[in-house]
Amino acid sequence: MQLLFDSVTADYQLGPIRSPRVLRSIDMNLKSGSFTAVIGHTGSGKSSLLKAMNGLLIPTDGQIKIGDTVIKAGKNKRSLKKIRKQVGMVFQFPESQLFAETVEQDICFGPLNFGVPLIKAKKMARDVLIQVGLDPIILTKSPFSLSGGQKRRVAIAGILAMQPEVLVLDEPGAGLDPAGKKEILSLIASWHHEKKLTTVLVTHDMDDVATYADDVIIMNEGQIVMHGDKRSIFSEEKELKKWHVDVPDARRFQLRIEQETGVILPQVCLTVEELAEALIEVNLA
Ligand SMILES: Nc1ncnc2c1ncn2[C@@H]1O[C@H](COP(=O)(O)OP(=O)(O)O)[C@@H](O)[C@H]1O
Ligand SMILES: [Mg+2]
Repeated sequence: MQLLFDSVTADYQLGPIRSPRVLRSIDMNLKSGSFTAVIGHTGSGKSSLLKAMNGLLIPTDGQIKIGDTVIKAGKNKRSLKKIRKQVGMVFQFPESQLFAETVEQDICFGPLNFGVPLIKAKKMARDVLIQVGLDPIILTKSPFSLSGGQKRRVAIAGILAMQPEVLVLDEPGAGLDPAGKKEILSLIASWHHEKKLTTVLVTHDMDDVATYADDVIIMNEGQIVMHGDKRSIFSEEKELKKWHVDVPDARRFQLRIEQETGVILPQVCLTVEELAEALIEVNLA
């Protein structure tokens, strides 16, 4: 499903006060099936951009088109209902949104809310739980009795049970150990491909960008300052410095090697495997 932002400006209304413009004239086209990483320093508007995709932040100007549904200033009730079903949002600490007495009730909540019959919702809960690598035996347990990593998986299972076509994830690996984070991100990547989702991932880890995403958006002060495929974005060192954005480790090693040896490798390397291949190709390894 395609996501189209046309001059979208948005802010938060805090009682009588409006926050400064949090999203400023955003033009963005995310193609159906794309996997985009959103990066930028804290406060640059990444989470707000994701909220706008899910109808949690409504434009004051411009419009958002998700599939054939439009959201713009004014009445959006019907559009919002549709979009909340189509766009699954995983917040930064999704486990903090667990609330039901059992894991099963928690996962079934979304589907039931969108009119799925109870028996079918229960079957879906079981299926997604297995998909996130958990034993269905925990369906009857309280979500609060689970470990941190298990809670995170249950929370993500709850989003998947809605069968969204677009998946937006706000630092889904935050607070997990490296192995747990890798497992979650690998799962997300395989759903992305299997279910042909359009996926948007906020992360601070450039190696995750290199491994999982195809495209990159860099945000600064509520604006998109760079948007392109990851290889061309990570080849613009100077521009990236301006936005205080790092490059993946492998790219950093590459630049260092090129500087020390004077040999320019045949391509921009984003992973250790790519770097190894390039080094072999020019007989440096
Ligand atoms: N609920 C909110 N109410 C008011 N201002 C907010 C709210 N959430 C974020 N902001 C402000 O919007 C700007 C962008 O924040 P955010 O989208 O959370 O950035 P990021 O995710 O990149 O850290 C910041 O200036 C932040 O203070
Ligand atoms: Mg954020």
